[in-house]
Amino acid sequence: MEVSLKNQVAVITGSSSGIGAGIAQSMAAAGAIVVINFPNDGSKEKAEAVLKVITDAGGSGIIARADVSKEDEVVELFQQVIAQFGTVDILVNNAGIQKDAKFTEMTLDQWNAVIGVNLTGQFLCAREAIKEFLRRGIVPEKSVACGKIIHISSVHEIIPWSTHANYAASKGAIRMLMQTLAQEFGGDKIRVNSICPGAIQTSINKNAWQTPQELNSLLTLIPYNRIGQPQDIGDLAVFLASDLSDYITGASIFIDGGMTTFESFSTGG
Ligand code: BGC
Repeated sequence: MEVSLKNQVAVITGSSSGIGAGIAQSMAAAGAIVVINFPNDGSKEKAEAVLKVITDAGGSGIIARADVSKEDEVVELFQQVIAQFGTVDILVNNAGIQKDAKFTEMTLDQWNAVIGVNLTGQFLCAREAIKEFLRRGIVPEKSVACGKIIHISSVHEIIPWSTHANYAASKGAIRMLMQTLAQEFGGDKIRVNSICPGAIQTSINKNAWQTPQELNSLLTLIPYNRIGQPQDIGDLAVFLASDLSDYITGASIFIDGGMTTFESFSTGG
């Protein structure tokens, strides 16, 4: 079977940079019409640059501003996409931020900001996408499923992370959000899964790879001995959105070079 997302409309939140940009490129290369969402005017140029790479390579898409933590902006985003393209076939709930702090010094603003984007944002986008999937129904020429949602979680869905309590809590919660949606809408033929990346080389974690010392220290946590790239995640996202993975729903797929095998136990325990 060919891996094709031809003519499917894919909304990828937070895709003006990092993992989201990689997913947008991979999905566009597989034939999807991609909606490159960016959060604020400051990231518009980056979104335009991602779109240019895609159109230069023969793909198609648009850029669309919306802060996913704001209900009215998410509702408007989906209205705009549906008005322009008729529907939405794929949602990649990717937008995510970190606001790291020692737990006793973590402010409510830091907590709320991370939960707002990473968790509430995924709730709001999933709700709007599922409403549209149910309204539209299955379109056999495009996919045997009625719609696909991919949550971008993290290895920190299961690995606790000191000084990142807000982030780890948001990712742990995404697992239950994802599995509950897979359960609730399986009968409607809507597939819902999570991708759980390990260390992927983007700006969110540049303090873990920008010097050779930092990179070496990071690699002690990764049995496969390399840092991940956005395309690693993009390839998996294409598979999970395609009919090749039609029997996969309610799954968290870890893509981490073995980080979740707990490498630090390889010599002891
Ligand atoms: C975080 C990165 C981190 C990686 C592995 C990701 O979810 O955003 O900052 O490098 O997990 O710890």
